[in-house]
Amino acid sequence: MNVIFLGPPGAGKGTQAQRICAALNIPQISTGDILRRAIKEQTATGLKAKEYIDAGKLVPDGVIIDIVRERLQQDDCQNGYILDGFPRTVPQAEALEGIAKIDVVVDLDVADEELIARLSGRRVCLKCGATYHVSRLNGETKCTCGEELVQRDDDKAETVLNRLNVYHSQTAPLVDFYQKKGLLKVIDGAQDMDTIFESIMAVVKG
Ligand code: AP5
Repeated sequence: MNVIFLGPPGAGKGTQAQRICAALNIPQISTGDILRRAIKEQTATGLKAKEYIDAGKLVPDGVIIDIVRERLQQDDCQNGYILDGFPRTVPQAEALEGIAKIDVVVDLDVADEELIARLSGRRVCLKCGATYHVSRLNGETKCTCGEELVQRDDDKAETVLNRLNVYHSQTAPLVDFYQKKGLLKVIDGAQDMDTIFESIMAVVKG
């Protein structure tokens, strides 16, 4: 099962992709995580991507399409995968058509005010990729893997607003793109995490 997770920043794509991938034993391919790793390792791609990410802008299509093309050729993608955060523009979606056959597109739908609250309170582990929200951490500052949790630079207030604007202008048109192809399943992403998980499992199991 080859799945795309669509949805605005903070909709819960990463949170749910981790759980669904663990349940189905398929890889989570998060372009955001790949880029953040490249930044941490100071690769040429990472250095180029950093200025876009810090400004809340999208990394150029050509860069991201090459990353995904290469990643999907790896052995662990043979039995399916979740694309978390790709595609994000119509040119990316068109390029993906020449790279992979997608079975379903899950769109997590959440209102902007809720997204802002989620992102401003998000804490992440840069080692294992786990995601938390301060309201549920009870003062804990470390990940279950032992690493100190941090706030992503692009979760600062001003950048969050830029990311939401970019989502509405450049990524939201993909809802229509995949609706027309009959692949879109919209899930209310404002529900509790377990309910969302069950709804997505029902969709991906067909
Ligand atoms: P990326 O890392 O993909 O960021 P994003 O799409 O903005 O998504 P987020 O990771 O912010 O949110 P999420 O939906 O995964 O939510 P999460 O589960 O963490 O991309 C970062 C940047 O990289 C982009 O801005 C761009 O520059 C670049 N980039 C990446 N891909 C690209 C591409 N294809 N093209 C060009 N550029 C690209 O949840 C958020 C918070 O809410 C957490 O605190 C979580 O605990 C909480 N939460 C989750 N679910 C619930 C719930 N049901 N109820 C209450 N709280 C919840």
